[in-house]
Amino acid sequence: MTGTDDLPEHVRRNRTAWDEWASDYVANGEVSWRLAPGDEKWGVWDIPERDVRLLPDDLAGQDTIELGCGTAYVSAWLAWRGARPVGIDNSEAPLATARRLQAEHGVDFPLLHGNAERVAYPDASFDLAISEYGASIWADPYRWIPEAARLLRPGGELVFLRNSTLVILCSPDEDVAAVETLQRPQFGMHRFSWPDQGVEYHLPHGEWIRLLRANGFEILDLIEIQAPPAAATHEHYGYVTADWGRKWPAEEIWRARLHRPSS
Ligand SMILES: C[S@@+](CC[C@H](N)C(=O)[O-])C[C@H]1O[C@@H](n2cnc3c(N)ncnc32)[C@H](O)[C@@H]1O
Repeated sequence: MTGTDDLPEHVRRNRTAWDEWASDYVANGEVSWRLAPGDEKWGVWDIPERDVRLLPDDLAGQDTIELGCGTAYVSAWLAWRGARPVGIDNSEAPLATARRLQAEHGVDFPLLHGNAERVAYPDASFDLAISEYGASIWADPYRWIPEAARLLRPGGELVFLRNSTLVILCSPDEDVAAVETLQRPQFGMHRFSWPDQGVEYHLPHGEWIRLLRANGFEILDLIEIQAPPAAATHEHYGYVTADWGRKWPAEEIWRARLHRPSS
């Protein structure tokens, strides 16, 4: 997909923003692509996969889609575990890095340029839909959650990692470290148009629960991530200090399963 006329305004704005920001994420993509099964690390605190068990146990032969894949290291991890991944991203720039890394690592899977809110794949194509800070924060949940439900087979899993609702409530501004008092109302939170041009989406937990259930999902888990005792404040992600992250969850992982039709 290259034309932008039919894209929603937030998707066009985020494409422009990510075309510019992608170069800042190349080094992390290169390091992450090298992580072997069992050594995967998640989020701002580099939490090991074995501590959060975000990935389904058996991915062999599973069809997976990463919604907002960036440099596609999560899809690479799924490939190392035997899955058949597909990645989609709204920006060509990280996809170019992903294609280079595919060639360097000798792996090949489809990488689509497009909006994760409308994916050019038939209904029920995948067993797992996953997003690590991709669609999970940059796409409108009222569009991408129904799309994930459409793409999944009955019994398929949806897993996504995002900033916690609490850290957004405590953030004075984008990339300003969260404070210990609430900075904005929770009621009505949805679209966040930050001054740097990017548009993010964050919902209260009750809204997430209702939205997931309305689209046929059973919620399996909500994992609130705590910064480990030795964690240091991240050099790049200035929105939270390690001290804050040891007391409150700055990130959260949702796991949900699409209902099977009752016979
Ligand atoms: C922080 S990166 C996360 C991806 C990956 N985990 C990484 O770090 O490379 C966010 C990605 O979401 C993509 N994105 C934003 N809006 C999107 C949308 N509507 N559909 C698909 N991808 C989107 C951006 O282009 C960007 O590559």
